[in-house]
Amino acid sequence: MNYELVASAPESLTVPLLAVGVPKQAAKTLPDALAHLDARCGGVLAGLFAGGDFSGRRDETAVVYGTGDAPPRLLLVGVGKPEEVGRSAVRRAAAVAARRARGYGTGSVAFAMPAAFRGAVGAAEFGQVVVEGLAQGAWQFDELKKPNDDRKPPVTSVAVVVEPAEREAAAPGFAIGCAMAEGQALARRLQFLPPNQCTPAFLAETAVQLGRDHGFTVTVLDQPAIVKEGMGALLAVNQGSATEPRFMTLEYRGAGDAAAPPVVLVGKGVTFDSGGISIKPAASMEDMKYDMSGAAAVLGAMDIIGRLKPKVNVVGVVPATDNMPSGNAVRPADVVTSHFGKSIEIVNTDAEGRLILADALSYVRRFKPAAVLDAATLTGAALYVTGHVATPIMGNDEALVEEVRKAGDRAGDRCWPLPMFDEFRDQNKSDIADVKNSGGRPAGTITAGWFLREFVDGYPWVHLDVAGTAYTEADSPPLAKGPAGVPARLFAEFVLGRAG
Ligand code: BES
Ligand code: MN
Ligand code: ZN
Repeated sequence: MNYELVASAPESLTVPLLAVGVPKQAAKTLPDALAHLDARCGGVLAGLFAGGDFSGRRDETAVVYGTGDAPPRLLLVGVGKPEEVGRSAVRRAAAVAARRARGYGTGSVAFAMPAAFRGAVGAAEFGQVVVEGLAQGAWQFDELKKPNDDRKPPVTSVAVVVEPAEREAAAPGFAIGCAMAEGQALARRLQFLPPNQCTPAFLAETAVQLGRDHGFTVTVLDQPAIVKEGMGALLAVNQGSATEPRFMTLEYRGAGDAAAPPVVLVGKGVTFDSGGISIKPAASMEDMKYDMSGAAAVLGAMDIIGRLKPKVNVVGVVPATDNMPSGNAVRPADVVTSHFGKSIEIVNTDAEGRLILADALSYVRRFKPAAVLDAATLTGAALYVTGHVATPIMGNDEALVEEVRKAGDRAGDRCWPLPMFDEFRDQNKSDIADVKNSGGRPAGTITAGWFLREFVDGYPWVHLDVAGTAYTEADSPPLAKGPAGVPARLFAEFVLGRAG
């Protein structure tokens, strides 16, 4: 993607598609802030408002075609209620604009919003969230399709338009936005790749490449090394598979003191979840290629961090395997010993994510973390809680939960806390082992969280269940169906927040 920060009056541009964000207007009249643009297109914008064809409602769009030296296409994009104009609303409008650009096949899109419309969103924030939104809306993946001249060209160029006097103020935010956009796109690409290509070894190669690009120390444990490390839970999930597991660690030391406690990001890397012997139904099983979305978000976030180089130490950790049935597969009723030392009764082989994360959460104790954030497509039940709209969040430290929730608000990766009452913990009690890997149907998202917590020791920790938010099955105005890259931006915002 080509990113540009353009500092000039929007009415002076002649780009193929100029999008302009407009908040909801109470009156059916042209807002003053659009007077110059209206003059540029011969007064047709005023007609859109007067006729009620456009008022600035969220996700609403109207296009006019310029004549003479006016931009060929001018797209008005609704940003919604003026009192709700903030980072998320502006990012969303930019995404809607880029999705329209894809449809038109213009190959590029520029987004402007008169300062009078921007509410409390400053120039730097505007530069950031607009480029994030444009890249999000423009994203597509055609790598596995034969080239076809009949397809609309992809959007390969996005531009944020600010007033000439704003260039310097907008530039730092714009740079953050570009990094966010690239990292989120990496996460989405990894998510979207099929499970025969995006294997544990492929994720590890990606981690090694990130290390080369950004100077991280990357450690990859293969099967024998994982055995040596004693990761019995990860090995149990992998034992039915013909594909080897990997356990990877990416270390970025950005703090002045390289020994300062790091932020640790952990992502579930199940490259395909068939359920194992507790096999899933066939319908939508193909979506289980997305079961490595937590891992994709960690790698995407590490890419963002590598580009921005904040003054914080960050460690990314990904346990990766697929979950397959076979004569060698782990059985419901098997008992295994985890890395932490606790024994686990595996009552359901489809509750595999918590098993591989248990070993990862135990492994990371060696880093003496300042905070550990994990992301996982962990439970279908998360979809019953917050759907595709927000990510359930829980943890062992209320202040950290709140800090992560706020980072999610800044990132547009919204989270909502669930309670970790002690009674939920009891549901995971086993007759034969220290803990069992499923607490049954009630509060399935929370009992999964409590299972993870059994392996958390000595550090503040937060768990994000992204089963409903990491990908979607239907298009929405700002996001095409498929991988969403959530919570790569949240992770990066959290780290930037820690950098001060
Ligand atoms: N990867 C799934 C969770 C999931 C389901 C993510 C649907 C996205 C959409 C996870 O490994 C799983 O199978 N969880 C089980 C847990 C149960 C067996 C306790 C579930 O949610 O049904
Ligand atoms: Mn499963
Ligand atoms: Zn799974």
